[in-house]
Amino acid sequence: MTATTHTEQKNGSPYLLSINNIEVIYNHVILALKGVSLDVHEGNIVALMGANGAGKTTTLKAISNLLRAERGDVTKGSIEFRGERVDAMTPDGLVKRGVIQVMEGRHCFGHLTVEENLLTGAYTRSISRAELKNDLERIYHYFPRLKTRRNSQAGYTSGGEQQMVAVGRAMMARPTMILLDEPSMGLAPQIVEEIFEIVKELNQKEKVSFLLAEQNTMIALRYSDYGYIIENGRVVMDGPAKELADNEDVKEFYLGLAKEGRKSFREVKHYRRRKRWLA
Ligand SMILES: Nc1ncnc2c1ncn2[C@@H]1O[C@H](COP(=O)(O)OP(=O)(O)OP(=O)(O)O)[C@@H](O)[C@H]1O
Ligand SMILES: [Mg+2]
Repeated sequence: MTATTHTEQKNGSPYLLSINNIEVIYNHVILALKGVSLDVHEGNIVALMGANGAGKTTTLKAISNLLRAERGDVTKGSIEFRGERVDAMTPDGLVKRGVIQVMEGRHCFGHLTVEENLLTGAYTRSISRAELKNDLERIYHYFPRLKTRRNSQAGYTSGGEQQMVAVGRAMMARPTMILLDEPSMGLAPQIVEEIFEIVKELNQKEKVSFLLAEQNTMIALRYSDYGYIIENGRVVMDGPAKELADNEDVKEFYLGLAKEGRKSFREVKHYRRRKRWLA
C-alpha cells in the first residue's frame, strides 16, 4: 500500500482541524464511530469517503456539535480547531469560529427566494447593508446561476441550484472551513462537476478549507488534496488523493475499476479476503 498513514502525515505543519480517536454512540447503545482520527490542513480540501452508513455524516456532526440533537454523543477522543478543544462547544460557538456545516440533502428554505436564503447565511454577522450587498455580489460571482435565479422561490429551483444555494448561504458567513455533506447526492454528473469546480474555486480564491463527505469516491478524489476512507465507523485507509486514486484496492473496491471485468464467485471470495485485510 502506497498511501501514507495517519501518523506519518501528522508530522509537519499545524492542522486547522484535528480529530483524535473519537467514538460516537447514538441512543446510548448504537456505536457509530469506533476511534476515528482525521486532520485537515489549512487551505486543503479533504474528502471523507465511504459507503452508505459508514459514518461520514456522524463524523461531520460530531465536529459541528449537531449530534446531541440526534441523541448522539462523542464518548471518547477529542476534536480541536486551531488547537482549541471544540467538542463541548455549542454549534453556534463553532460557527463564530468560522466552521459551517452544509447538511446532506441541501436544506434550503423552500418558501424563501434564492436571495433571501443567501441572506439568512449572514445572520451571525452584524454588518451594514452595503457590506451585505457586497457579499451577495461576491457569492453571485461564484454562482452565476444563482444570480439569474435570485428572485425565484428556492423550493422551485433544481436540485443542483438548491445545492448551490446551500453552499452559497454557508459562504455568506465568511467561513474558514466548510463541512460539506454529500454535495453530489441525487445530482446529474454534469451538475456535480459544476459544483465541485465551484468548491475548488472557493478553496483557491477565498481560502476556505473543506472537509467533504462523499459516497462518490471518483469525484471526491479528483477534487481533494487528501482523503480518508471510512467503513463501519473506522478509517480503513488514508493518503494524498492522488495516491489513493492510484491504489489498486481503492480502484477495485471504490472506483469499480477492476481489471478483470465482471467478478466470478471465486473472485468475490478473494474480494472478501482482501477486504478483511484492508479493515
Ligand atoms: N440519529 C441516529 N440514531 C441512531 N443511529 C444513527 C443515527 N444516525 C446515524 N445512525 C447510524 O450510525 C451509522 C453511521 O451513519 P451515518 O449517517 O453517519 O453514515 P453516512 O456515512 O453518512 O451514510 P450515508 O452515505 O448514507 O449518508 C449508521 O449505522 C446509522 O444507522
Ligand atoms: Mg451521510
